[in-house]
Amino acid sequence: MVDWVDLVLPLWLMVPALVPNSAAVLTGGGLPMDLGRTWRGQRVLGDGKTWRGFFGGAFVGMAVGLVQVAIAAGVGSTDHGGFGQWPDLLGPLALLAFGALLGDAAGSFVKRRLRIKRGAKAPVLDQYNFVVGALVMLAIFDWSWLVEHFWEGQRYLGALVFLALVPILHRGVNVLGFRWGKKEVPW
Ligand code: CTP
Ligand code: MG
Repeated sequence: MVDWVDLVLPLWLMVPALVPNSAAVLTGGGLPMDLGRTWRGQRVLGDGKTWRGFFGGAFVGMAVGLVQVAIAAGVGSTDHGGFGQWPDLLGPLALLAFGALLGDAAGSFVKRRLRIKRGAKAPVLDQYNFVVGALVMLAIFDWSWLVEHFWEGQRYLGALVFLALVPILHRGVNVLGFRWGKKEVPW
């Protein structure tokens, strides 16, 4: 029997990595991360990646994670819904939130090298850059947390469910952002 907790927990634990991209749209603006520099005739990252978006988005992602921790504690979860104990849980939260936006910036770097203009679509890359960023940061700095929460037992099944849902979640959030006039394009 597959335990439903194993199926759902990876998605729940990924929320602090899902939020920063959308939050960056709201907090972004000002100084671009690449300071306007170009490389081989193209911007390094482009005007769509700003420091305000990076730090604002990551902090909102961590804040949402802390709300999840509080909710989990409120319903009696002894390990804060899988995030772990204080103050250690700040580590995975930061890796998830900052990793997501590092992945997002890396995705823009790849897009510019492929001469894809800022804001233009890049299927797969646009949807998965933040997931890869968060997973790579966890793999480098907290491998045991990553394996324990996204692989061991039957967690890998939940991780697969999450990966399958990513395009749908991404699309849903962006369509909302577009309707609310926060995003210029619905992707
Ligand atoms: N944003 C930001 N800083 C970041 C990430 C995002 O300011 N680090 C803001 C920008 O206003 C950006 C918007 O969020 O335009 C949407 O983000 P995204 O779709 O990732 O960027 P694009 O503009 O599409 O640029 P790219 O083609 O490089 O992905
Ligand atoms: Mg975009």
